[in-house]
Amino acid sequence: MINTQKDSLFIRAAQSQPTERPPVWMMRQAGRFMKEYWEIKNKYSFLEMCKTPEIAADVTMLPVDLLDIDAAILFSDILVTGEAMGGDLSFNQGVGPKFANPVRTKADIDNLNVDCLGQLQYVADAIKVIQQRLNGKIPLIGFAGAPFTVMSYLVEGGSSKDFKLTKLMLHNEPEMAHQLLSKIAKVTTDYLNMQIAAGVNAVQVFDSWAMALSWDDYKEFSHRYISEIIAGLNRQDIPVISFCKGSSVFAPLMAEAKPDVISIDWNADLLDIKKRLPQGIAVQGNFDPHILYADKKVIKERIHRLFERMKGENGFIFNLGHGIMPDIPFDNVKYAVDVIKEYK
Ligand code: CP3
Repeated sequence: MINTQKDSLFIRAAQSQPTERPPVWMMRQAGRFMKEYWEIKNKYSFLEMCKTPEIAADVTMLPVDLLDIDAAILFSDILVTGEAMGGDLSFNQGVGPKFANPVRTKADIDNLNVDCLGQLQYVADAIKVIQQRLNGKIPLIGFAGAPFTVMSYLVEGGSSKDFKLTKLMLHNEPEMAHQLLSKIAKVTTDYLNMQIAAGVNAVQVFDSWAMALSWDDYKEFSHRYISEIIAGLNRQDIPVISFCKGSSVFAPLMAEAKPDVISIDWNADLLDIKKRLPQGIAVQGNFDPHILYADKKVIKERIHRLFERMKGENGFIFNLGHGIMPDIPFDNVKYAVDVIKEYK
């Protein structure tokens, strides 16, 4: 019997093999732009949804069933590693994520627990339920936050515009910063290996806020730990995707960490970036999600423009340069997926 997940468009494109058309999935596809998400969210808190495998599976399946997307992504959050290490995490409507006990001193860092996989068992359980539901139809992507991005939430105590306290730690207390980043990297490696053991078909590392860093700081405080994580994965034939905002600048360094796929933000010309990467590294991206607010004829024209540009290239996965915004019309997202699937 052929393994439909391993032979899927998504896995073949991630491995830079030829595909009939580029596969499509979208970051934040399991979320607030769907009324079906709200029907669940109105009954449970976000963390309850993440921690109850049946509910996490229900949400993961929404874009599979409603959009007919080419890959599913585990419903969870990048901050669950920070919580497992000892962060007091909550999500409140309109406020976003909060850590009530921010990590600011050497003692705070010493207190973080790195042997915390047991606390994340609910994720392994969710993966098993999701794989039963998917029943081989399409692959499942697992994920984790990159150390720098997770560190920024732990240090700031929540979302930040300028990452002032985080950068201050990098610059004034680099040894402390390295101690914190090493601890997060260790947990993240174990956590992604747990997801692989539980049955995900690919993994993505999200370094959402890397674009806040200078080249030197990215190299020292982010790239180094992503490389460590990727080197520590039991990859077998599981593709590893490296995503950051800032990838149009950092892509050459990201390639040195040896992912299978680099997910590119919307600032760069995708073909131009791909040509500058080593052979065998696929690209994912890089549609500006704001285009999904526009008229359908614009959405179609822009998708065709990207596809014409990438024509004949193996190793291209359609995605957005960053996640879908919660107020993008569902109908436009569905239309975009249909346009992609009909493309010849
Ligand atoms: O992609 C998916 O559909 C899978 C699920 C997923 C979520 N978060 C669900 C979520 C994934 C992959 C993430 C990753 C994540 N979480 C990132 C990296 C991706 C990116 O967009 O850069 C980051 C930075 C976070 C941290 C985070 N979680 C923030 C900043 C917020 C609040 C955002 C806001 O606009 O309020 C969250 C909450 C969150 N994570 C929600 C969802 C569906 C919304 C929760 C709710 O319904 O209130």
